[in-house]
Amino acid sequence: MHDQSRPWTDTSLPAEQRVALLLSAMTLEEKVAQMVQISYSTVTPDEADRWAKLGAGSFLHTLGDNARRLQRLATGTRLGIPVIFGIDAIHGHAIHNGATVFPTQLALAASWNPALAERMGEITAREVAAEGLHWAFSPVFCLGRDLRWGRIDETFGEDPCLAGKMGAAVVRGYQGSDPSDTDRIIACAKHYIAYGESTGGRDSYDSPVSMRTVRDVFLPPFEEAVKAGCETFMAGYESVDRVPCSAHGELIRGVLKEELKFDGFVVTDWSNLTSLVKRQRVARDAREAARIAVNAGNDMIMTSPEFYEAALEEIRAGAIPLDQIDDAVRRILSVKIRAGIFDNPDKVKTTPLAEDPLARSAEAVFNCERHRRENLEAARASMVLLKNGDVRGKPALPVRARGDAGDGMAVPPSRAREVRTIAVIGPNADSVRAQFGDWTFFTHPVPHLDAVPSFRVITMLEGFRALAAERGVRVLHDKGCDIFDPDNHTIPRARRLAAKADIVFVCVGDTLVQTGETHDRADLALSGAQDRLVEELSAVCSKRGIPLVSILVNGKPLEFARVVAASDAVLETFNSGTEGGTAAAEIAFGKYNPRGRLPISFPRKTGQLPVYYNQLPGWHEGSYHDCPGDPLFAFGEGLSYSRFRYGAPRLSSARARATDTIRVSVDVTNSGDCAGTETVQLYVSDSFASIVTPVKSLKAFAQVDVPAGATVTAELALEVGSLAIVLPDGRKVVEPGEFDILVGHDSRSGSLASATLTVEE
Ligand code: BGC
Repeated sequence: MHDQSRPWTDTSLPAEQRVALLLSAMTLEEKVAQMVQISYSTVTPDEADRWAKLGAGSFLHTLGDNARRLQRLATGTRLGIPVIFGIDAIHGHAIHNGATVFPTQLALAASWNPALAERMGEITAREVAAEGLHWAFSPVFCLGRDLRWGRIDETFGEDPCLAGKMGAAVVRGYQGSDPSDTDRIIACAKHYIAYGESTGGRDSYDSPVSMRTVRDVFLPPFEEAVKAGCETFMAGYESVDRVPCSAHGELIRGVLKEELKFDGFVVTDWSNLTSLVKRQRVARDAREAARIAVNAGNDMIMTSPEFYEAALEEIRAGAIPLDQIDDAVRRILSVKIRAGIFDNPDKVKTTPLAEDPLARSAEAVFNCERHRRENLEAARASMVLLKNGDVRGKPALPVRARGDAGDGMAVPPSRAREVRTIAVIGPNADSVRAQFGDWTFFTHPVPHLDAVPSFRVITMLEGFRALAAERGVRVLHDKGCDIFDPDNHTIPRARRLAAKADIVFVCVGDTLVQTGETHDRADLALSGAQDRLVEELSAVCSKRGIPLVSILVNGKPLEFARVVAASDAVLETFNSGTEGGTAAAEIAFGKYNPRGRLPISFPRKTGQLPVYYNQLPGWHEGSYHDCPGDPLFAFGEGLSYSRFRYGAPRLSSARARATDTIRVSVDVTNSGDCAGTETVQLYVSDSFASIVTPVKSLKAFAQVDVPAGATVTAELALEVGSLAIVLPDGRKVVEPGEFDILVGHDSRSGSLASATLTVEE
């Protein structure tokens, strides 16, 4: 039975009717309060309580008892509208010390596996929901194209197709088929739009791109978010061609809400409203900023509490039409209903933790066994073997213990290099912070670099130690050098260890303050004496005829040219989360056949940026006098212990119309000696168009498991509509003519075989 005095709580009524009933019961003040989101980390507890009593629609960065207290106050108000709690669960619910820390989005993108991303989303949702929170500010649908930008680690890489598919999978994972289910939360597609394109890679500056480019390059991933039913969007900090995102009516109200029919709500980013006045200076004061933001289509205002009074004054003065406020509040309340916040008692936690008999069992989901197992699988699938050269007639990797029969190995043991002693060296060999990357309890809601994880983290060193111990292999360890200190006086100690080992693993990369939000870099060269460390170890290893393997632990691509040249093998692990060390050790010991592929291109030098693969063609091969045109490692690259060969791609039809879907099949043969997983990539190149089009663009991909010696046919669906281009006047059209369909292992032209598709009028 519902509360008769609150007819909107009648669950037998359609949601729209319930929202209409509630809206009609609300005062203007209550409506505007719903549009306010308060950060618990920037107000005093008393202020937070005052906002809850005023009916603030949402809080962010509130955990545990604080959230429960605020919910108690909110549900105790005249209308009792529950608060929606948002949290930056960016790669797991990692702000909560104890929850699962997954590989970052960039790492996960290297799996090219949307199903895996969906499971990660589902697990994150479970942990966030167990905390009594409802809403993750994730996934990030921005593209990572200027690598100086600090937030590259938060993206799914440089490509719109891959980012859209991975992001949509996370949305499905969070929300499930019904976000009101106890274990589900709602997603937030951010940061709308072209955020990663901001000038010079400087976070939150102007993104000097045209609306044509926005629609062509940056909108498609966000369209996937809408199609996946993503309940909320976040407007970015930056301006797009000088119009602040939060003031961009054409993009929010026009494109997102009217054209794409997005029916959820839009939240600003942190203090965007304040910034319209103080930084971007397009509004004289808070009142004008409130009017601009509401007119543009923002529904909820994050951490600019001055919005409340300012908006009320503007509405009373007739400057903000009431129907815009009603539309914003209707959207917020509808999402709250769809998210189960009104109706599912599990979603409205008000009992203090100590008195809640369910709190314990809820907490038991954090890092539980299944979550750790799935996390390990995500870490394994996210690692990319970039180089595996021969040393004395054998590939550098994998290794096995001398005398080990090779049980559980993914490769024939005879292929593995026998070792008795390994050295694990480097500043990132045993660094939880470097391995986690941004957006964990180390960095948010306030930085705590000295925090101690309340759960077991498997660093690279620990992963190697554990596996080595099982196999009777000895592990030597030294930090080698500090990640910042250019002084190399500790390197001789590391050299001495290398002289005692049968193989050397050196873990280099970056650490927290060099990556993440507000940590852009002008120079992507490795800091401190890291290059020097690798080169000196390389000298020892070559002299002794043993391999040097570099394990990269980094938020984003850096200048790894010297490391790669000095190493026999290179394994990219990015920020691999809690289980990263196990995954890397399993790959090194041949227990897992690597399958990750780069979701982003690696530059030879910072000055070569941008190096993304889908560039527009120019003259002279894009090379500089002092740097070749191609990247150090290209989008899509990654090795396996298997060897794959491709046949010629076959099209279900060589001619098609814009509305058709073509099937593209290709035979993939594993000519290696162990089963492996290959990611088949399909790129398209427009032979001729009315405007300049990218040299190639990814349009589809598929993963196939291929047993040793076998041939498997990969089938990919190509929607001809995806070949559309956006003309300067904004129209999106598929122009008739010929397209090269390029299928193969990675984005480098040499690895792709082609067929021709003719699109008819
Ligand atoms: C970031 C967002 C984040 C928000 C709330 C901002 O600084 O740009 O990505 O969701 O803070 O923490």
